[in-house]
Amino acid sequence: MAYIVKQKVYGKDYYYLRKSVREGDKVRSKFIAYLGKNKTEANKKAKEVIKKMEKGELVEDKKEKNVEEKNKKEYVKYDYNRIIELASRRSFFYPSAEIYPNSPKGFWDFGPIGQSIRRKIIDFWRHEFVQKEDMLEIHGSQILPATVFEGSGHLKSFADPIVYCNKCKKYYRADQLISEATGQHIPESTPTEKLDQLISENNIKCKCGGEFEKVTKFNMMVESIVGKEGDARTFLRPEACQSIFLNFARMAKTMRLKLPQGIAQVGGVFRNEISPRQSITRSVEFSQMEAEVFFNPNKINEIENFNEIRDYSIRVLLLGKENIEDISAEDLVNKKIVPGKLIAYFLARTQQVWNKLGIPLEKMRFREVDKDERAFYSLSTFDFEVETSLGWLELIANNYRTDYDLKGHMKHSGTNLEYAEDDGKKIIPNIWEISAGVDRTIFAVLENSSRQGKEGVYLSLNPHIAPYGCAVLPLVNKGGVFDLAKDVKKLLKDSLFDLVFDKSGSIGRRYARNDEIGTPFCITIDGDSLKNKDVTIRDRDTTHQIRVKISNLKDVLRRLINQEIEFDKAGKFIG
Ligand code: GAP
Repeated sequence: MAYIVKQKVYGKDYYYLRKSVREGDKVRSKFIAYLGKNKTEANKKAKEVIKKMEKGELVEDKKEKNVEEKNKKEYVKYDYNRIIELASRRSFFYPSAEIYPNSPKGFWDFGPIGQSIRRKIIDFWRHEFVQKEDMLEIHGSQILPATVFEGSGHLKSFADPIVYCNKCKKYYRADQLISEATGQHIPESTPTEKLDQLISENNIKCKCGGEFEKVTKFNMMVESIVGKEGDARTFLRPEACQSIFLNFARMAKTMRLKLPQGIAQVGGVFRNEISPRQSITRSVEFSQMEAEVFFNPNKINEIENFNEIRDYSIRVLLLGKENIEDISAEDLVNKKIVPGKLIAYFLARTQQVWNKLGIPLEKMRFREVDKDERAFYSLSTFDFEVETSLGWLELIANNYRTDYDLKGHMKHSGTNLEYAEDDGKKIIPNIWEISAGVDRTIFAVLENSSRQGKEGVYLSLNPHIAPYGCAVLPLVNKGGVFDLAKDVKKLLKDSLFDLVFDKSGSIGRRYARNDEIGTPFCITIDGDSLKNKDVTIRDRDTTHQIRVKISNLKDVLRRLINQEIEFDKAGKFIG
């Protein structure tokens, strides 16, 4: 059966005629003709081509096929616009309250596919950090009293430098403005006088042509009103971890906590970003997966599993260096690049986890952050950055927060947050922080997962974070085949498989729809399935197909999703 396919390449539509062909037990989608860029003409041309096909007069037009190949090549460049186009068209994510004009910028909703990927990334992180590293996970309030943020230092120090344009009457981030105009990296902690000087020296004007006023500091905390009178001053938290610090003494008492101990939390945070932009990578409301590892600073080198990563190479960009270096965890410690083994261990684990999430090693680095650029609470910072179409994007802040937070909260709350070691000696633990942005991780994973396959573009997501573990596709929509497909769906759903049942459109179109969102395995039920009690499984990345007995399907699928077996050997190989 022939069908028209529309592909968008950099905002332009291209139309193709394709058909589903059966080769043995396999069903493939094959190119027939390029139909141009206009929908009406494409429909007309498709009819002519189909007529020629029926008469046996159609000769494959190699030149036009090349157009499709060329367009596909461009199409696979998943740059920022392409991700946003895909995200919007398939409802991965899109602006919040979009049906209302003038809704504020910097808020994003996740639709079913995006939310499934989001949830699975969080679960993956939970598995790799909370479970494998024996951390404790908590869930704290998003609104906290102002006193907490006096203790944490946010009310005083959590501020961005901003400038006001007296013509268009808008505020801009001063550091970003100068960076964009000069091509130089300008730390946000640069003193306001220095920023004024840079604006003047580089003759930077607003894009509306207006002049900027003097740079000022703008506190990024979002205030909230609680209670009728709003008498208790409260704020939405700007980082998830504050609840972890507030919970520490309780955990030590009630969970028989022994250092070193990680406490983790996933949740929403809020920052009054003056210029929210680039969709989910810089928004006002976003989510963090934070792990705070509490340890005795005198025992920073006593870490049980260090040997597992001793020789593992970590990609670091050191201060003053131009090139990324691969340095083993052991050398990072011996050369005193990091303060101790505990820190090298968690840098290694972080790199491993984000690599498993789909970020290639060659596109990642830990950038050592200069004193001037570090957060006010950090003694040493290694930002985990990923190369994207937006440039190097910080996904994770790795901070040595020392005893800064516990001391601050002790002072402001009047509560003793000391920890008693086994020998009775009391210490204020130090903290190593791994603060990952959920939204930026989603963006970087999507961008890095796009691939050009034989049958089109697909998202090569790790099956653990794909929106659906598999798709069930009946080849016909009625009779025994359809009933059997519904039985397969029930069988898999009863075993907690996360699947999509896709019954409409040609099989080629259904494969393409699932490839595009990263469904790793498509299960096709056809006439032979009724006779032989088996199904075809198609692998997204290779488009190879195998035949598997329905009685083995759950087991085979589980092992495929866990990447425990090679696809081609998981059933009767068809091709
Ligand atoms: N507790 C430390 C902390 O919050 P951070 O560098 O301010 O450190 C950590 O934030 C991570 O949160 C960043 O690496 C980034 O992934 C994410 N993040 C920060 N601001 C963001 C924003 N406006 N929009 C989306 N994600 C953001």
